[in-house]
Formats: sequence, C-alpha cells, structure tokens
Amino acid sequence: METVVRPGADVITADQLDPYLDFETEIDRLRRENNAVILAHYYQDPDIQDLADFVGDSLDLSRTAATTDADVIVFCGVRFMGEVAKILNPARTVLLPDADAGCSLEESCPPDEFRAFREKHPDHIAVTYINCSAEVKALSDVIVTSANAETIVRQLPADKPILFAPDQHLGNFVARQAGRDLTFWPGSCIVHDQFSERELIKLQSQHPEADVIAHPECMESILKHADHVGSTRSIIQYARDSHKQEFIVATEQHIIHEMMKQAPQKSFIPAPGADGTCNCASCPFMAMNTLEKLYLCMVNNAPRIEIPEDLRILAKKPLDKMLEMTPPAASPAQAAAE
Ligand code: 13P
Ligand code: SF4
Repeated sequence: METVVRPGADVITADQLDPYLDFETEIDRLRRENNAVILAHYYQDPDIQDLADFVGDSLDLSRTAATTDADVIVFCGVRFMGEVAKILNPARTVLLPDADAGCSLEESCPPDEFRAFREKHPDHIAVTYINCSAEVKALSDVIVTSANAETIVRQLPADKPILFAPDQHLGNFVARQAGRDLTFWPGSCIVHDQFSERELIKLQSQHPEADVIAHPECMESILKHADHVGSTRSIIQYARDSHKQEFIVATEQHIIHEMMKQAPQKSFIPAPGADGTCNCASCPFMAMNTLEKLYLCMVNNAPRIEIPEDLRILAKKPLDKMLEMTPPAASPAQAAAE
C-alpha cells in the first residue's frame, strides 16, 4: 500500500530553483516558519546530519517522533521510519525528502506473504523488526529494533514459540543471545550482506589493535569477529567510551561521521567488502535523501506520509507494545548528548 502522498503537478521542482540558493539557510528559515523538527538517521549524508535537530538510531528516532510537539516532522531516513513517526504521532505532518527511500528488508517481506507465514504458525508470537511496512506491523504482535530486540524476546513466555521477521541475521543474533529458538523469515539487508569475513580477517591482521564493532544485521560470519555488536547508537557509544583508539566498523559508512564527532582523536576503518577494498557500504535508500530534496519537501509539503486510520490503529498496537517492553533508558536527547 502506498503510504506516501507524492508532490502534485503544481509544485516547485529542482529545475526551477535559483542555482545560488543556500539550502542550509533556507531549510533553517522553513524550519522556524513552519514549526518543524528535522530528524535524521546516522546513515544520512553528513550535511543532513549536521543540520538535523536530532540524529539517532531507529528506537530513539521513534521515541523522539512520538513525543515532539513540532507541527511538522521532517524525517531524513527511510520510509518505514517516517511511517512509524506518523503512526505514533498522527496529528503531525510527516515529510520524507524522497518518496522512494525504501529498505531492502521491507521489500523482502510483502504483507500477503507475511500473512500466510503467520497463518502457517498460528500458535507463534510474531516478533517483527521495525524495518518493515505499516501493513506488516499491523500483522505483528510486537515490534523490535536492534536496540531492544534481545530484551523484548527475553520477556516473552518461555513456552511460546516465536516467529522473527524479516531480518534473519538479527534474529539469529537475538536467538543466540537470549537462548531461544526462533523461526525466521529469510530476509537480510543488502548493505550489511556485503561484508566479507575473509577480507575482515586480513584487515584485522593489518590492525591487530583495532576493535571490530558491528551492527546485528551483519551475517554471523562477521558478528563472530566483533568485540561489540549493537544498534547504531550503541556502537557509536562503545567506540566513544572504549579505551581503544582504532575501530573496524561493520555497518553503513555514514555512521563514521558521528563517531568522528564524538571521538575525534580515534580512527575508524570501514569493514571491507568481497573485493578486498573498502566498498564503504552505503545504503542506496538513505542516499536518496539530499539537501535539495529536503528543501523541496519543506517547500512543497510533500512527499508526505498518510496512513489510513484503520491501518494506523492496527500498526500502532505492536509499536506501543515495543515501547512498553523497552526498559526506560536515558531520553534520546540525553543519550545523544552523552
Ligand atoms: P538502527 O536501529 O540500529 O539505527 O538500525 C537501523 C537500520 O536500518 C540498520 O540498517
Ligand atoms: Fe534497510 Fe539496510 Fe538501508 Fe538499513 S541499511 S535502511 S536495513 S537497506
């Protein structure tokens, strides 16, 4: 189901823009005039991260979107993140710079196939990673992010079987950590699937002092070499707080921008792909958002997330369950400032 209202025919387009326009200044003006807040994920281009009001992982971004009193949430991330903001805070306008900024995990899990998967396992609890469509959320019992998946699975009744979708690598990691058998949906992220164990081992031999820090969307062959596995926020904090000076980073490359801000004296090496060079893993969906598109969505009030109310109510239930089952942490704003 299309949850994005695309710009109409009468909007301002990129070719009409003054070539001397200063996007940063104009975005700032629109932010003030429209009482807007700009939220950005750590995988966004540094220029977008730098002008956002808040940069975070999926969990912190969801919490921030749920509680903001700004009239407009401009979501610099991928579509499912914008949908979560709208589901949790429907009175706000939610803008997305590029309507096509999807996610390979979301694509791997079409709602009709997920419904059939559930029907095949009627006695299972459906634990679903937040990287999925609003329709898949509506068919789930509880949503998780990479930051809270393990703690939520640990709280589920021991005698109940569990389905985990759509990321099999995160599911596998959680199953090992929590000591639970999970039945997986066979999805994975095209970005985190790129890392090569053989090349990682070579890189480690060239940097024997470096810690490997990895996102749990990586394959087990990568995670088993990691000194720390966690959500984007968690691996940034680990790098900042560790006594180590050098880190091999197995996740999307733009996270290194925040790592360098929080620990400027340390060095960060992107994990290698199969060709042995730094492929500098880049999410093609996150990369669709640019400063120009950010400016245009604020001018045009589109692309804009709109979710039918019956679907929104169904999708909100497992998201509320997630927030209920997530231990109170430092507020996202505090966490970012730590
Ligand atoms: P985080 O929730 O850790 O920020 O991850 C989101 C994501 O899409 C990773 O690919
Ligand atoms: Fe989706 Fe992977 Fe991009 Fe994250 S990095 S948004 S999981 S495609």
